[in-house]
Amino acid sequence: MKRVAILISGGGSNMVTLVDSMQGDHPARPCLVLSNVAGAGGLEKARTRGVDTAVVDHKPYGRDREAFEAALNEVLDAAQPDIICLAGFMRVLTEGFTRRWAGKMLNIHPSLLPKYKGLNTHARAIEAGDAEAGCSVHEVTAELDGGPILGQARVPIEPGDKPDALAARVLVMEHQLYPAVLRRFADGDRSPVMLP
Ligand code: GRF
Repeated sequence: MKRVAILISGGGSNMVTLVDSMQGDHPARPCLVLSNVAGAGGLEKARTRGVDTAVVDHKPYGRDREAFEAALNEVLDAAQPDIICLAGFMRVLTEGFTRRWAGKMLNIHPSLLPKYKGLNTHARAIEAGDAEAGCSVHEVTAELDGGPILGQARVPIEPGDKPDALAARVLVMEHQLYPAVLRRFADGDRSPVMLP
């Protein structure tokens, strides 16, 4: 049975769908939900689902990313995950951390990568006049929002779409995509999941 640690910074809606998907004949189970924000709403949702939680606040470490990540690794090494899922985790990770977890760490990003790496993805897609937006799950490498794509979901951009409305439609697809990718990944299958 593969052990999955999920890193969050906020509400954790993607974490909830991942945790709820790991049941029955699923080859993985959640072993930890870890947040860099003490009051993250997702922590309570994890606790009500019986999943161990931890907080490593990044603020005391200031600009010393390596020290913050050493504290993360202390908690992660104790949980011994086989897979790490970044789910609304809003800290940039150093190359050293991504190397430590190479081949085991996934992230969901709200754009059709390689387009729109970074923030404000939906506003940028609307601004560019794109016909569609979406989300991508990728293996995490040293390159921010880079790494091999393991799945994508496409969402049409409607005329007059506002970023929040588009984000809400994409989030629905994120909740379908990430569990589907995690299941394949946990089975050792890296063939991409393409939705719809
Ligand atoms: C989502 O848009 C996700 O794509 C991004 O963080 C946002 C919030 O995710 N990574 P969640 O509700 O905290 O899972």
